[in-house]
Amino acid sequence: MPATVILGAQWGDEGKGKITDLFSESADLVVRYQGGNNAGHTIVVEGERYALSLIPSGVLYPSVTPVIGNGCVVDPKVLLDEMDALAARGIDPGRVRVSANAHLIMPYHRKLDAVMERYLGGQRIGTTKRGIGPAYMDKFSRFGIRVQDLFDPKIFRQKLEVALREKNQILTRVYNQLPLDLDEIADEYLGYAPRILPHVTDTSLLVWEALRDGETVLFEGAQGTLLDVDHGTYPFVTSSNPTAGGACTGVGIGPGALDRIIGVAKAYISRVGTGPFPTELHDEIGEKMVQIGGEFGTVTGRRRRCGWLDAVALRYAVRVNGLTELALTKLDVLSHFETLKIAVAYDSLGERHTEFPRQQRVLYNCVPVYEELDGWVADITGVRRYEDLPAAARRYVERVEELAGVPVTTVSVGPGRDATLFRS
Ligand code: GDP
Ligand code: IMO
Ligand code: MG
Repeated sequence: MPATVILGAQWGDEGKGKITDLFSESADLVVRYQGGNNAGHTIVVEGERYALSLIPSGVLYPSVTPVIGNGCVVDPKVLLDEMDALAARGIDPGRVRVSANAHLIMPYHRKLDAVMERYLGGQRIGTTKRGIGPAYMDKFSRFGIRVQDLFDPKIFRQKLEVALREKNQILTRVYNQLPLDLDEIADEYLGYAPRILPHVTDTSLLVWEALRDGETVLFEGAQGTLLDVDHGTYPFVTSSNPTAGGACTGVGIGPGALDRIIGVAKAYISRVGTGPFPTELHDEIGEKMVQIGGEFGTVTGRRRRCGWLDAVALRYAVRVNGLTELALTKLDVLSHFETLKIAVAYDSLGERHTEFPRQQRVLYNCVPVYEELDGWVADITGVRRYEDLPAAARRYVERVEELAGVPVTTVSVGPGRDATLFRS
C-alpha cells in the first residue's frame, strides 16, 4: 500500500482515527491534507483513549512520521498543546512535520466563526467554532498568514497589520464587537515560533521523496465526503475538500500517486451540526444509536444525530472519491436491533431518486426508501475472524458492499485495535 488515502464516506466521525491508526503500523508517513482542529479522531490502544485533533493518527507508532500538509489550517497553540499532551503520555511528538505553506488560524478567525454563526441564527451551520471557515476564507481571498510567516517577524507583523485592519472593521462595524490588538496577537504568535520552527519543512518534497523511495504513505482525511465544500451538502459543510482529490492539492502530489482509496463508513450514520440528513431518526431507535454508539462529539461534546445507513449517500461517496474499498465501523452497535434498515433510494417531490440529489430542495424533501434486514442480536465485540460473525451480520456487511459496489475489506466491532476483522 505505497500511497493509501483513508477518508470519511459520510458526515464525519466514521472512525477514521481508529482505521488510520491500524494501517499506520506498516506506514512510514501519515499525512493530514485538509481541515484543522475541527477534527476529533479517537484511538483506543489497550484501553487507553487518545483524542487527536490536528496531529495525524499515525503519531502513536514511533516509526511513523506524522505530517500536516499545506491544505490544513493550523492553530499554533492547539498544535503545541497537542504535542505537549502526547509527550506527557510518553509519545514523542518530535517527528511531527508541518508544511511551511499551511495557513494559520488567527484569533480573529475564531472570533468571526462565532459571530458569523450568531448572525446566521436559524440558518447557522453549527460549526465547531474553531475558526476553520474564516481561516480558509482568508486563504482564498489571499489575506492569509502562513506557518512560514512566523519565522520572519517583520513580514508577520506587516501581514497581520493588513489583515487586522480589515478584520477589525468587520468585527466592530458589522458585528458590533471590540477590536483586537495587533501587538497582543503578534507577541502571542511570534512567541510560538521557536517551538514550531523545528517541525516546519517542505512537506510536499518530503512525501514525494518517500513515495519515490518506495515508502508507505497514508493520507488521513478529516471530516467526510458529505461535509466537502464542493461535493457535500452545501452550505452545511466544512470549508475544505476531504474528498480524495483534496489529498493531491492538500499535500502537493499528483493524482497518479494514489493507489488505494479507503472510505470509512459507520454501519449506520451520524451527523453533528445542522443540515439535511435523509435517514435521521427522531425516535427511540435513533436515541439508542446515540447511547450505545457513544455518539457525542470528540471536539465539542455535542450529541450526534443518528440514523440508518444510507446506501444512496454511500454510493455517491464511492463515486466522487473513486473509493477502491470500504472499512465498515461500529458494526457492534447494530447488535442491539432486531431489524435493521438500509436506505436504497429516496422519494422526493413526486420522484424516486437512486442517485444522491444535486438540488438542495430535493434533498430536503427526501423520504428514504428502506430495505429491511434481520439483525443478529448477539455480542460480536469479541469476534476476531470475519467467518465467526453471526450469519446475519455477514449478510449485512455483504449487502452493504453489493449496494456500494466496492468490497468491504475491513470490519470494525469495537474501538480497540484488536476489534477489527480483515477480509481479503
Ligand atoms: P473520526 O472522527 O472519524 O476519527 O471518528 P471519531 O473518533 O470522532 O468517532 C468514532 C468513535 O467511535 C470513537 O469514539 C471511536 O473510539 C469509536 N469507534 C471506532 N470504531 C468503533 C467500532 O467498531 N465500534 C465501537 N463501538 N466504537 C468504535
Ligand atoms: P472528524 O474529522 C463531524 C462539521 C461541523 C459543522 C460543519 C462545519 O472528526 O470527522 P467547521 O467547524 O468545520 O466549519 O464546521 O462541519 N464538522 C464535523 N462533523 N466530524 C468532524 O470531523 C467535523 N468537522 C467539522 O459540526 O456541521
Ligand atoms: Mg471525529
